[in-house]
Amino acid sequence: MLLRLGTELDKSAILEKYPYTGQVMGDGGCLIIAEDENQIIGFLWAFMQDIPVAVGEKEMFINVVEVFDSQSRCKGIGSAMVTKCLSIAKEEAYYQVRAYCSIHNAASNRLWLKNGFAISPVKMPDNTIPGSYVTYKL
Ligand SMILES: CC(C)(COP(=O)(O)OP(=O)(O)OC[C@H]1O[C@@H](n2cnc3c(N)ncnc32)[C@H](O)[C@@H]1OP(=O)(O)O)[C@@H](O)C(=O)NCCC(=O)NCCS
Repeated sequence: MLLRLGTELDKSAILEKYPYTGQVMGDGGCLIIAEDENQIIGFLWAFMQDIPVAVGEKEMFINVVEVFDSQSRCKGIGSAMVTKCLSIAKEEAYYQVRAYCSIHNAASNRLWLKNGFAISPVKMPDNTIPGSYVTYKL
């Protein structure tokens, strides 16, 4: 398995093969590709922004991380992409890396936990918890 930065061509290839990824992948940003035998087997896409409160720092927000084939999951590929993203964010001197994780997505919750992210559950006014913001302070 090879990890590399993705190009606009890679983004188009992913969008063409998996059209639903258009809902979570926007223009620009940071694309990380996991490749095996010249096939894209997974990707992570993050965007950069000012932290949306008045602290004067920037963050990377991982909008999606996915390993396409369920047979390829639980082999550390998701973690490898997250680790690569953290090292890019560190090089760029971002303050933190953040993502949002649904309460129903057990694999995703586990992914963030095992990679050292703090888990901040979001409590709604009716006391339900739809998910958590997860944050890695660089
Ligand atoms: C989330 C995802 C990217 C993780 O990728 P991965 O390559 O399997 O990640 P890793 O192998 O590094 O770690 C996955 C961890 O989740 C655990 N896991 C997987 N399915 C699980 C489940 N149903 N319940 C609990 N833990 C689960 C694995 O055991 C592993 O933890 P461990 O190493 O402590 O055993 C992958 O499951 C996926 O593509 N899911 C669909 C897309 C998605 O939901 N993305 C996240 C939101 S954008």
